[in-house]
Amino acid sequence: MIPTLREGAVTIRGVRGRDARQLDRELMDNRRWLRTWEATNPRGPMNFDVRASIRSLVANARAGLGLPFVIEYDGEIAGQLNVSSITWGSVSSATIGYWVAERFAGRSITPTAVALATDYCFSQLGLHRMEICIRPENHASLRVVEKLGFRYEGLRRRFIHINGDWRDHFCFALIAEELPTGVLRRWLDGTVPPGAGVVPAADRAAAQQPPL
Ligand SMILES: CC(C)(COP(=O)(O)OP(=O)(O)OC[C@H]1O[C@@H](n2cnc3c(N)ncnc32)[C@H](O)[C@@H]1OP(=O)(O)O)[C@@H](O)C(=O)NCCC(=O)NCCS
Repeated sequence: MIPTLREGAVTIRGVRGRDARQLDRELMDNRRWLRTWEATNPRGPMNFDVRASIRSLVANARAGLGLPFVIEYDGEIAGQLNVSSITWGSVSSATIGYWVAERFAGRSITPTAVALATDYCFSQLGLHRMEICIRPENHASLRVVEKLGFRYEGLRRRFIHINGDWRDHFCFALIAEELPTGVLRRWLDGTVPPGAGVVPAADRAAAQQPPL
């Protein structure tokens, strides 16, 4: 149901129950690295049961609402990429979230994984729009969308509950028809339009102000 997609040493494939032990170890070993950027539950403590989380991701995928991928690098689990909030019909849009373990950072694994997933969603599923929302402080993640030419769409105040509070996010998106050759090909060919992912100074300044 969920495809296996490859580019060089990077593979994305559907998450499985038997990934739980390895993912649990990575999530624990990378607590400090991940915590600042992790979605949290506004109504109470987080559930760190990785098996239950995989079950829920797979159920969500069966319902056609998400694509939960594991990211592998040279055959080793490096992180996760989730296509979530798939909306079909006249919106035909989805959102991507991701992480890699700290020891895998800086090898363009995530942009490769995002490009593979987005191309699949556009060309095989017929989705029309892919969105990525990022905290203004997350410079590494902002580089991911900048590399791939996701277009800046705007600042959403106190948009997602992250690390224990509602946080502002910069939102970026791509639309299928702006990518005749696909996200991955455009990036590898070096033809990403410069400046697409640049956040205007006014929004950067607004994000420095205390939230509403
Ligand atoms: C954001 C993240 C997914 C990027 O993944 P990645 O596979 O390292 O992506 P890239 O290799 O393209 O690196 C992106 C930027 O990270 C920064 N970076 C590289 N190595 C790094 C390291 N060891 N430590 C911190 N930042 C690093 C660089 O600025 C890099 O940009 P550059 O390639 O222009 O130098 C990863 O840093 C991560 O998992 N962070 C914690 C979780 C998170 O922030 N998730 C996203 C929430 S929106």
